[in-house]
Amino acid sequence: MKKIKPLIAGNWKMHGITRNIKEVRKMNTALAKKSKSIKCDVMICPPATLLHRLAQTPKSRIIFGGQDCHTAEQGAHTGDISASMIKDAGGKAVILGHSERRTDHNETSKQVCAKAITAHEAGLHTIICVGESLKERKAGKTLTIIRQQLRGSLPDDCTAHNTTIAYEPIWAIGTGLTPTLDEVAAVHKSIRAALTKRDTASMRILYGGSVKPSNARELLSVPNVNGALVGGASLTATDFLKIIDTYAEGSK
Ligand code: PGA
Repeated sequence: MKKIKPLIAGNWKMHGITRNIKEVRKMNTALAKKSKSIKCDVMICPPATLLHRLAQTPKSRIIFGGQDCHTAEQGAHTGDISASMIKDAGGKAVILGHSERRTDHNETSKQVCAKAITAHEAGLHTIICVGESLKERKAGKTLTIIRQQLRGSLPDDCTAHNTTIAYEPIWAIGTGLTPTLDEVAAVHKSIRAALTKRDTASMRILYGGSVKPSNARELLSVPNVNGALVGGASLTATDFLKIIDTYAEGSK
């Protein structure tokens, strides 16, 4: 399998107005100073209102992305945004199928898959999220649910180049709770085993759900964890940089 370059991606959710741009400036300045030693890609997915502005950041070490897109390329869909609009605003990627979208907007894996196809056609990288509820975990259904979501959400055209998977147990998101390292390892191993095609074998698999500076090192050391999708701790430069530092050369 090809060597996988990890990714630390920040999901700002519905947080962030113009004054938060200074956090991104701080992150970029700090990253520029140690740019050679950081061995991972860094991404921030801000709210759509900030994307264009952030994507203009000169010489940014951070790449920017959207948090969702519509299945259609354009049309009469009030309030929605398309993959090509994200691309036009300077975005390089889009998060799809986040559990908050699956819950708040009743998004199905079939819709996530349709969105991914449109996003890939627009030239965006997709971060496709999967994850089980606490009820499903307690019922011992975690791996079955994850496999179902993967089968339904990943389009046939997905490759390690255009797609990243994020495993986010729903009960760990924003709660401060995290699965044990063995539990994370078991899910990531199962996802890796499902990526059997040559083009998908080296796809990145991120862990997400209450990743913070204090637990990043151990979570990111789990086999088949190729980075993190970070919510709350991506909002401030100090915390996000500490998480990114896990991948700094020589860092222990
Ligand atoms: P959290 O969110 O880090 O705040 O738990 C992660 C996510 O929902 O992507």
